[in-house]
Amino acid sequence: MLRSFWSNVTAGIAVLVGIAGLSYVLAGAAQPPGGPAAVVEFTADGKLKQPIGYREWVYIGEVVTPNELNGGEATFPEFHAVYMDPESFAHFKMTGKFRDGTVVMKELSSVGSKEAPSGNGYFQGELTGLEASIKDSKRFKDEPGNWAYFSFGHKYPLKAEVSKNAAAACNQCHQDNAKMDWVFSQYYPVLSAAAPRSK
Ligand code: HEC
Repeated sequence: MLRSFWSNVTAGIAVLVGIAGLSYVLAGAAQPPGGPAAVVEFTADGKLKQPIGYREWVYIGEVVTPNELNGGEATFPEFHAVYMDPESFAHFKMTGKFRDGTVVMKELSSVGSKEAPSGNGYFQGELTGLEASIKDSKRFKDEPGNWAYFSFGHKYPLKAEVSKNAAAACNQCHQDNAKMDWVFSQYYPVLSAAAPRSK
C-alpha cells in the first residue's frame, strides 16, 4: 500500500516535470520571429561583444580580393568568409527577407599558399580579422536600413568588444551597392539558392 502510494507520487512528479518541460519548449517555439538579436551580446554601453560559435552558423559565401588583381595592393588582400545566424537563415528561406535580428559575420583569412596538389590558386592561410553586421529596428533605429556595422580588427589579437562604426564608414557603401537590403547577396549563391522564389 505504502509502496504504491510512493510510486503514484513519483509518477505524478514525473508528469508534472514533463508538462513543465513541454510548456518550456512550447514557449520557446512560440516566440515570434524577429526581435533583438539573441545570438549576440552587448555591453551596458552598447558595444558588441565578440560573438562566439559563428563558425557553426550557415556559411553563405566567400570572396577573395587578392593583391594580384588589385594593382598589387588590395584594400583587404584576404578571403572573406560570410556566415549568417541559423534562425535568421531559416526565416530567409521561408520569406526571402532578412528578419529583424539578423546577424551576419564576415571572417577574414590571409592568402596562404598559391599552389597545391589541385593546381595553382589562392589557398586560405590564417584567420586574420572579423566584422559583423546586425539588423535591429529597435537598437539601431537611427541607422540607415536599421543595419549597424562592427569591426573587431584585421589583425590578431582581435578586440573583445567594439562600438558600431559610423554609417559613412561602412553602411553607406552597403546601402549604395548591395543587392538586397544592405547585404551583398549578389555574391552569396547559397542565399540565392535558398530564397523561396528560386525553388
Ligand atoms: C567600399 C564598399 C564597402 C565598405 C566601405 C564596407 N563594405 Fe562591407 N562589404 C562590401 C562588399 C563588396 C562585401 C561583399 C563581400 C566581400 O567583398 O567581402 C561586403 C560584405 C560585408 C559583410 C558581410 C555581409 C554583407 O553585407 O554582405 C560584413 C559583415 C561587412 N561587409 C562589414 C563591413 C564593415 C564592418 C565595414 C566598415 C568597417 C564595411 N563592411 C565597409 C563592401 C564594403
